[in-house]
Amino acid sequence: MGFTDKQEALVKDSWEFMKQDIPQLSLRFFSLILEIAPAAKNMFSFLKDSDELPQNNPKLKAHAVKVFKMTCESAIQLRKKGEVVVGETTLKYLGSIHLQKGVADPHFEVVKEALLRTVEEAMGKKWNNEMKEAWAEAYDQLAAAIKAEMHAEA
Ligand code: HEM
Repeated sequence: MGFTDKQEALVKDSWEFMKQDIPQLSLRFFSLILEIAPAAKNMFSFLKDSDELPQNNPKLKAHAVKVFKMTCESAIQLRKKGEVVVGETTLKYLGSIHLQKGVADPHFEVVKEALLRTVEEAMGKKWNNEMKEAWAEAYDQLAAAIKAEMHAEA
């Protein structure tokens, strides 16, 4: 499905704004993931052994930033080409790392919900339904590409 210039801009502009505070964004994103699915905790090496979210943990930040950034890149590709294009090796790597860590399809819904709520809270009054739809579509396409790779490998 094609993506409009406006949808791309909604995702890009909100990411530009949100990335000014990565520590806050990544903590909030992970606390929402754990709120929605407490069991997800055991999948993340950096969360396993502690009762609270580690502040400023580089791995926690890295996963949060990657999910947001790659969703944003997915939006750009959707507008340009009408489909998600992630470099071949990256997609293969993404498929195998998630398979290896025990991630399954329903987890992608959890992360989607957490991502949308994080954007909603960060954007405050600027949040609207169009912005939500744009992030949701960009994420869904990216998640579908990763899941397809996981299924191909499993
Ligand atoms: C690792 C991206 C969804 C759990 C990774 C890595 C990337 C990535 C790039 C490798 C990190 C590295 O080697 O530095 C993404 C993207 C997602 C997504 C773009 C969605 C579109 C998920 C979901 C889960 C998940 C749904 C499960 C709730 C993990 C785990 C690791 C990982 C457990 C290993 C992290 C560690 O313990 O160090 N992800 N991910 N990811 N991802 Fe995801």
